[in-house]
Amino acid sequence: MSGSLEPILFSVPCRAAQAPENLARVINSDHVHGDGPFTKSASTKLVELTGSPTVLLTTSGTAALEMAVRLLGIAEGDEVILPSFTFSSGATSIVAAGGTPVFVDIEGHSGNIDPALVEAAITPKTKAISVMHYGGVPVDMEAIMALSRRHNIPVIEDNAHGLAVSTKYGRLGTIGSVAIQSFHDTKNVHCGEGGAILINDPALVEAAEIMREKGTNRSKFLRGQVDKYTWVEWGSSFLPSELNAAVLDAQLDEFDTIQERRFAIWDTYKNGLESWANENSAMLMSPADGVHAAHVFFVLMPSLEKRDALLDYLRTNGVIGTFHYVPLHSSPAGIKYGRAHGSLEKTILFSERLVRLPLWPGMSQEQVSKVVLTVQQFK
Ligand SMILES: Cc1ncc(COP(=O)(O)O)c(C=O)c1O
Repeated sequence: MSGSLEPILFSVPCRAAQAPENLARVINSDHVHGDGPFTKSASTKLVELTGSPTVLLTTSGTAALEMAVRLLGIAEGDEVILPSFTFSSGATSIVAAGGTPVFVDIEGHSGNIDPALVEAAITPKTKAISVMHYGGVPVDMEAIMALSRRHNIPVIEDNAHGLAVSTKYGRLGTIGSVAIQSFHDTKNVHCGEGGAILINDPALVEAAEIMREKGTNRSKFLRGQVDKYTWVEWGSSFLPSELNAAVLDAQLDEFDTIQERRFAIWDTYKNGLESWANENSAMLMSPADGVHAAHVFFVLMPSLEKRDALLDYLRTNGVIGTFHYVPLHSSPAGIKYGRAHGSLEKTILFSERLVRLPLWPGMSQEQVSKVVLTVQQFK
């Protein structure tokens, strides 16, 4: 954009050069349904990127969460602890299995679940702890895994934001028993709608393959391990078509370039807004040890009023910023299906004061500079 009046959008899906050719290959082939060559290729790339031994593509991050919850055997009456500051799918996947989401508070600076509050929320009904690495900033997994071992409760990592992020705890998505990625078009790499489940506990692999293939042992059949396939367990249609896999595969080829550009934009915001933040009692996203995925860049304003005023100011001046998750514990479905543990004050404050700035790899330098300048002009 060159001084035009078009607003700078909050998110524009990234495009990979090879995607049109990949799609044409699928359309002109005899294999358009799931688990074809592009699924294999994308899954192999994801195994390499994430370090998880088993990666199965799914139709969405939500579908992967539904699988994760079921794989851990969550059923009627069971409880799963999760942050209130997360996407609805974190909770609705638990409810779909008959379980109860138990919401705990977050850390005020990162937006991640506060491990110090998890233990008090554990009851005899607790069957899993589900964490979400907000913006790809790692949750304190040392503390979470210590709780997991002490209480013998498995961990789900919602890593929708943090593909391939390396941390002192290991790579995100490889620490809990199961983890999920989202490839929705707002994510760093995408295929429109898509996701993956990462299975780190080898005992869950066969069950996951069956669940993903409508409850059948078709995966075994395709590998020649059984001579016909049949319905063996509960399952659903969780596998994406080759069309989605073809787009994802093309994006994964460009992962390094995409990340490089996202980090450059993130760093420009961080450096350009530091003094403004100090002068305006705002807090810029400050990941511990500098570890994050450049998925979001957020500013915490001193109050809800200031936050709304900044969003209005940005919009009036051609920059589309946005808030993020509305707390789940006080949402209509959260009240109906879930239970809040404690006051969740930090969740409320974080959600009310948060502004995310535009961050997508196709942004021009001019657009990035305009975002910085527009924020700096807000007092
Ligand atoms: C943290 C988190 N988890 C899960 C999801 C669900 O992913 P999907 O949109 O692929 O179903 C999202 C949504 O974008 C998300 O932000």
